Amino acid sequence: MIWDRLLRNLHLATLAEPDGWGTIRDAAVAFHDGRIAWLGPAAELPHQAARQVTDLGGAWVTPGLIDCHTHLIFAGNRVEEFERRLEGVSYAEIAARGGGIMATVRATRGAGLEELVEAGRERLGNLLREGVTTVEIKSGYGLDPESELRMLRAARILGRELPVSVTTTFLGLHALPPEYAEDRAAYVDLVAGEMLERALAEGLVDMVDAFLEGIAFTAEEVGRLFRVAKARGLPLRLHADQLADGGGAALAASFGALSADHLEYTSEAGVRAMAEAGTVAVLLPGAFYTLRETRRPPVEAFRRHGVPMAVATDVNPGSSPLLSPLAALNMACILFGLRPVEAVRGMTAHAARALGLAEDRGTLGIGKRADLAVWRIAHPAELCYWLGADPLELLFIAGEPVVPPARRIVPPRPAALRPSLRPAARQPRRAPRSR
Ligand code: NIG
Ligand code: FE
Repeated sequence: MIWDRLLRNLHLATLAEPDGWGTIRDAAVAFHDGRIAWLGPAAELPHQAARQVTDLGGAWVTPGLIDCHTHLIFAGNRVEEFERRLEGVSYAEIAARGGGIMATVRATRGAGLEELVEAGRERLGNLLREGVTTVEIKSGYGLDPESELRMLRAARILGRELPVSVTTTFLGLHALPPEYAEDRAAYVDLVAGEMLERALAEGLVDMVDAFLEGIAFTAEEVGRLFRVAKARGLPLRLHADQLADGGGAALAASFGALSADHLEYTSEAGVRAMAEAGTVAVLLPGAFYTLRETRRPPVEAFRRHGVPMAVATDVNPGSSPLLSPLAALNMACILFGLRPVEAVRGMTAHAARALGLAEDRGTLGIGKRADLAVWRIAHPAELCYWLGADPLELLFIAGEPVVPPARRIVPPRPAALRPSLRPAARQPRRAPRSR
């Protein structure tokens, strides 16, 4: 057999050991059919031919980063809300007055498919630029059947268009739309019924998530959706215990959810339940930072109980306008006290687990998908150390080299400033509005 590609002259952080980086200095890696066919010390490299040989000049190689929690498809932004929060108005107050998530819902309902794809593409480019090869994207800014489907279609289009793998999460229970203010049960029925059915029929749903919180949905409402989703064999996630202890961690665990996310207020009992269920704790330091929270997730308890911790950007226009996975790693260390190796494992091995993909990716080993990030650094802890360093040199996604895109301006840009990339021939800028 001839390998498709051989990488030489590199150091590896495989993240394949339970503790530590899984370092192999002076290593080599071979790919075949998009998978890792061999890896180890260069001195032990078998005599085997490769179609292409790439010298990485002593760079460090890690698994491609996995951003396992994002809301990166949305229209508009919430910079006014950012200003109001700085004046002292809280996230929950803004939500209670119809702003917050609902402000983004109004903008997203008014955006066509093409506009959502374009905005998502630019944001996703920023993640690739910092080493992301797999990203999860949630719905949840549509909150009506057509708009939720449009968000999920946009996510699928990005997954087809760009080399990165996209996993979709249906988050119909993100906020209660005002048209259902008098009938919460009817909205939950719509989400667990028509919305989920239609999204599944179109092949748009990989996982199901919900927002369990005083400003969002109750345990009973989430339970109703989760029972339906679980009966359909769908993996579950939960936004839990972000602003108060709502028993979210234990609820997620009781459904065998892949992950519970945020978790600032999770109790010891919640941690224990997660440990027993094998539910991953997804830490989102960007939201903690942006909302200037002071209560930190129970990292020490997660360690003690052996709950795997993942780290993600939570990219969204409200609580985490963070387009930098490396900054999220830095924040996980500085704000939550993770060790660099824990933070990087949180965006590789444990993030893969939070997406149900641990068998396939997230660590480097023979048979794993050949998703790798090549970094100009002298030690992998530098991924957590620098802020704004732009250290990524190259990506390999399913064994193919991908030159990371340049940093992009994040929309919305004023229409007049958009470069006219399309031929002058009439092309509608947006799909017909539907609601
Ligand atoms: O993960 N917590 C709920 N959802 C998002 C925030 C969404 C928004 O503010 O637009 C989060 O932080
Ligand atoms: Fe979120």
